Amino acid sequence: MAKKHQIVLGTWGSVRSSFRSLVALLITGLIITAVYLTQDSGRVLEGRTNELLSKCNLFSGKWVFDNQTYPLYKEQQCTFMSDQLACEKFGRNDLSYQKWRWQPHQCNLPRFNATALLERLRNRRLVFVGDSLNRGQWVSMVCLVDSWIPPKLKSMHSNGSLITFKATEFNASIEFYWAPLLVESNSDDPVNHRLPDRIVRVRAIEKHARHWTDADILVFDSYLWWRRPRMKVLWGSFESPENAIYKEVEMLRVYEMALRTWSDWLEVHVNRTKTRLFFVSMSPTHERGENWGGGENCYKETGPVVEEGYWGSDSDPKMMRVVETVLDELKTRGVNVQMLNITQLSEYRKEGHPSIYRKQWEPLTEEQIAKPSTYADCIHWCLPGVPDVWNELLSAFIVHDQ
Ligand SMILES: *[C@@H]1O[C@H](CO)[C@@H](O)[C@H](O)[C@H]1NC(C)=O
Ligand SMILES: *[C@@H]1O[C@H](CO)[C@@H](O)[C@H](O)[C@H]1NC(C)=O
Ligand SMILES: *[C@@H]1O[C@H](CO)[C@@H](O)[C@H](O)[C@H]1NC(C)=O
Ligand SMILES: *[C@@H]1O[C@H](CO)[C@@H](O)[C@H](O)[C@H]1NC(C)=O
Ligand SMILES: *[C@@H]1O[C@H](CO)[C@@H](O)[C@H](O)[C@H]1NC(C)=O
Ligand SMILES: *[C@@H]1O[C@H](CO)[C@@H](O)[C@H](O)[C@H]1NC(C)=O
Repeated sequence: MAKKHQIVLGTWGSVRSSFRSLVALLITGLIITAVYLTQDSGRVLEGRTNELLSKCNLFSGKWVFDNQTYPLYKEQQCTFMSDQLACEKFGRNDLSYQKWRWQPHQCNLPRFNATALLERLRNRRLVFVGDSLNRGQWVSMVCLVDSWIPPKLKSMHSNGSLITFKATEFNASIEFYWAPLLVESNSDDPVNHRLPDRIVRVRAIEKHARHWTDADILVFDSYLWWRRPRMKVLWGSFESPENAIYKEVEMLRVYEMALRTWSDWLEVHVNRTKTRLFFVSMSPTHERGENWGGGENCYKETGPVVEEGYWGSDSDPKMMRVVETVLDELKTRGVNVQMLNITQLSEYRKEGHPSIYRKQWEPLTEEQIAKPSTYADCIHWCLPGVPDVWNELLSAFIVHDQ
């Protein structure tokens, strides 16, 4: 199958040169690997990853500048790139944010292999469920496989909260489902969800979950939309407001209730032998430059934080503890959810955000133009960039750990 794809790609004019450079990259990769082998013969090596995943903490490591193997794809060549994340297209000149490799301390992260992933997704559904950060990771995943699939053999289809990318020859589906708080909320509309008053129906998840319960691989996240001191909880339903009871509750408490609703659903509805479950930990934001001794925020940052163990004040460790507790309890009930522990590694990447280099949905005001840091996006991530590495981690679990 891999051979066949290569032939199709070879006759597909515009891709030919990029395919050649890919071959060149692969060869470089082999040389680099060979260098590692001679340097670190005692370490766990690429390839024998089943062993790798049990012995090595992939999330503990450092960023290494690597303009030989990165980026893993070109921004302009990804058919489904989002204007929210296409930083180069919107004028960013310093492109080094695309060229960092994650180097775990005890082993090497297996290089992303689109063919191997698509093989593993044959006749399967991979569904990302969550907010715009998770959607960014989904776009990254689609871009990572996109150039390996000829135009006629892929499709994109959007239906309400669900967007489906299909690699038809593999009958493989890579989907995103919008549910920023996982449970039902007044922010569930995939387009119009910016409401001043945030309301969660903390015991209700069926409306969302029925769209993805039969998926083979599920990747969840939910963090950003909870960042406020209190949440309004709805007991009752959005459809019958006359019976509704609202109560303001401390956020952490509501977060835990929501995750328990989610975990109870998984315990009852998910087929444990078939479905693999992942939860992506908090995606850090870089909105306070004083945290790393920088300017206002991520605006004008061009390199990662070098201080080992850097942790910004925007990331709430208490929320991470709640997730850990809920996942631990699920495990005792026989349901394994692998945490993709990307918080620490992404904390370093203060320069990886779109900043001012993305599509602006509203025209900028004169005040904003005068002071660009006021409209910098220090939440999402440029592509190619940090989420590609999250997907290399995810892919390591999907492809190598059976
Ligand atoms: C996540 O990774 C960081 C860095 O290695 C580590 O300090 C932290 O304990 C990890 N958390 C979990 C839940 O694995
Ligand atoms: C890669 O980076 C090195 C060091 O920064 C630089 O000397 C070299 O020209 C770069 N190579 C490419 C292909 O950009
Ligand atoms: C990628 O995976 C395919 C299918 O498992 C395998 O045949 C190929 O050798 C892999 N490529 C690399 C560069 O490891
Ligand atoms: C295609 O994949 C879906 C899961 O996404 C599966 O239910 C279906 O059986 C597959 N079709 C074939 C012909 O295998
Ligand atoms: C869209 O999703 C609904 C269920 O939410 C389904 O009934 C309908 O058939 C879907 N439409 C298309 C065109 O896929
Ligand atoms: C769970 O999935 C496995 C593997 O796909 C399948 O053999 C089994 O019948 C499923 N169990 C239920 C209850 O659907």
